[in-house]
Amino acid sequence: MAACFSLCRKKAKNRQEPSLAPGSASVSVSAPPSTVTTSRSDDSAAGKHTSKSTASTSSQRSIPAMYEERAHNLRVFEFDELRNVTNDFSRMNKIGEGGFGSVYKAYIKPLDGKGDRIAVAVKRLNQRGLQGHKQWLAEVQFLGVLEHPNLVKLIGYCAVDSERGIQRLLVYEFMPNKSLEDHLFNRNYPTLSWNLRLQIALGAAEGLAYLHEGLEVQVIYRDFKASNVLLDKEFRPKLSDFGLAREGPTSGLTHVSTGVVGTHGYAAPDYIETGHLTVESDVWSFGVVMYEILTGRRALDRNRPSNEQKLLEWVRQFPVDTWKFSVIIDPRLRSEYSLKAAREVAKLANSCLVKNRKDRPKMHEAVERLKQAIQISSTEAHSSTSNLDKQKRSEPSRR
Ligand SMILES: Nc1ncnc2c1ncn2[C@@H]1O[C@H](COP(=O)(O)OP(=O)(O)OP(=O)(O)O)[C@@H](O)[C@H]1O
Ligand SMILES: [Mg+2]
Repeated sequence: MAACFSLCRKKAKNRQEPSLAPGSASVSVSAPPSTVTTSRSDDSAAGKHTSKSTASTSSQRSIPAMYEERAHNLRVFEFDELRNVTNDFSRMNKIGEGGFGSVYKAYIKPLDGKGDRIAVAVKRLNQRGLQGHKQWLAEVQFLGVLEHPNLVKLIGYCAVDSERGIQRLLVYEFMPNKSLEDHLFNRNYPTLSWNLRLQIALGAAEGLAYLHEGLEVQVIYRDFKASNVLLDKEFRPKLSDFGLAREGPTSGLTHVSTGVVGTHGYAAPDYIETGHLTVESDVWSFGVVMYEILTGRRALDRNRPSNEQKLLEWVRQFPVDTWKFSVIIDPRLRSEYSLKAAREVAKLANSCLVKNRKDRPKMHEAVERLKQAIQISSTEAHSSTSNLDKQKRSEPSRR
């Protein structure tokens, strides 16, 4: 599995191509209206759970079943409509590109035709056959069912199969502040303040806690990383990209067995080694992103000296309980952060990054610990402002 993880790099950027497990069963899954029903391998996203253990006896509904009940929530777009609003998928409208395909900004009419047009992001699948379709289908099914302030909203989709090829598109609410990745690592953006970093960490944790613990089925996100945390106009974080998401194991089972997919630098070692996917794999990735937020450095950065390329190895030289710790904090923050709160975030990250996955915290615990860090940070900010005030008052006026 580990070898596959490092060898199967096909897509743009770092994301891995899902691999079809040899001999995996083809099972038909329910598809959104107007799309084809297709076969599914071990690696398809929503749908029946797979595990090395025996089949489940649980009566909980699956994501596709829940999707069938709610499918009417999503708009079905004509391909020509999306072509028109994106100016024939022009470069001028293009706002990003990922493993799935290109993303374009566009404006669409509201459903009732009244009022202002709505800004949307249109993601168009590169024509790559079945794997692409499966990721698209997973995204439609998961986002058709999931609803939370920290998850991106899917407005609708388009699926056309014709002699001229297949078209798979997704239409999301537009996120005007791009992604956490842009703000942490792109020097063209102003520095993300300490308070915003903490708020983004908290919102992202709440999104993951909802997926892991807030639904009748457990959802493993599998692709938690800075580029998948989008930011709305108030910089509230929203998780996007559910193409790799999976339903968690049903009761009595510990994990889902899958081909190893994900992104280098973020995937948990236990998952890479065994292919056993658990919610704790997401908790590990969350720990990695916490260190990206603290340091302003990428999980994996080939442009740095060799001993600094792997973030987790680099930060290990500056333990949280030593004076050296502050060396890792993003220099762009200058002194405008709370060291005490930063230590709390680092301790949380460390607990997410322990080898034994069972010792990692649940996401609701992560949420609580981040709230505490925010509390520490704001108390410190208040006391330092009032100290400053006192100092000013006691200082003789200099004229
Ligand atoms: N709903 C959205 N609103 C605004 N911009 C978006 C939206 N969705 C995606 N984007 C932009 O498009 C870029 C590409 O997104 P996409 O999810 O396809 O790839 P990625 O996350 O960068 O990489 P990967 O495919 O490895 O996940 C994002 O980084 C973001 O800047
Ligand atoms: Mg993405």
